[in-house]
Amino acid sequence: MRHLMSPLDFTVDELSRLMDLAGDVERNPEKFAHECDGKILATLFYEPSTRTRLSFESAMLRLGGRTLGFATADSSSAAKGESVADTIRMISCYAHICAVRHPKEGAALVASSKARIPVINAGDGGHQHPTQTLTDMLTIRSLKGRLDNLTIGLCGDLKFGRTVHSLIKSLVRYENVRFVLISPEELRIPSYIRDDVLKAGNIPFEEVRHIEDVIGSLDLLYMTRVQRERFFNEEDYVRLKDFYVLDRKKMELAGKDMLVLHPLPRVNEISVEVDDDPRAVYFKQGQYGVYIRMALILTLLYPERYGLC
Ligand code: NCD
Repeated sequence: MRHLMSPLDFTVDELSRLMDLAGDVERNPEKFAHECDGKILATLFYEPSTRTRLSFESAMLRLGGRTLGFATADSSSAAKGESVADTIRMISCYAHICAVRHPKEGAALVASSKARIPVINAGDGGHQHPTQTLTDMLTIRSLKGRLDNLTIGLCGDLKFGRTVHSLIKSLVRYENVRFVLISPEELRIPSYIRDDVLKAGNIPFEEVRHIEDVIGSLDLLYMTRVQRERFFNEEDYVRLKDFYVLDRKKMELAGKDMLVLHPLPRVNEISVEVDDDPRAVYFKQGQYGVYIRMALILTLLYPERYGLC
């Protein structure tokens, strides 16, 4: 039995097969419409979510399966003091696979150590968000045609943004990928990514403050929101929240093929006037999230049939 805690849990080959399967699911939905008949997905969300939870549920329903779960910690026995470890033991009796989101780093890993069913990390604090990374990778591969030879700008809250951490860890495995890290001083990428992943792997990267200075050199611009819920005080959040606003004027400085991605939710960091720009693909990205989660559920539930080693 395999779990998904980090995007590195899959080899590059396995990721490629997973994305091929997502492509097949997109093109031939009817072929997969009954693959999960009789199967149940549990979504255990101790933190708010729209896309991740509902795209998991949509994915399972499109495969013919059913779903159960909770969307807030206070509607579960966590409010009475139950541990994640105990909850997951029970969920193993109710479902065949589950997705867990929790504010604490490592919570999904604890769950996987006690589970009798595959556990998917749907975001653990400011740490990792592997299914968003799978979504981002499928989006990039589908719309750019490649995952190598890319200059990728990551902008916003690089300190607390778990989607950024997972994406960097994953993309360093491809050839000739360069990162431009755009953030204010206070929200720079943590050293466990800068030193342990980028420097240790000799990956080219630079850290800058202003989008305008670099946007013209990017193949992709990955925007993120300032993660209010992970700040220690509101004052710092208010000072930093509108540090970046991508608008039409800045988009004029970008190349005609540069894509703008965002895991969403967006707050103010992308002006709505950018939404109609054909280079803005963040809503399409959400659609890819359903296909990749369908492929992931199939792969974890039926590892032999769908090619996990
Ligand atoms: C992201 C998350 O939860 O980390 N959202 C998502 O899953 N699409 C990004 C965010 O909340 O800013």
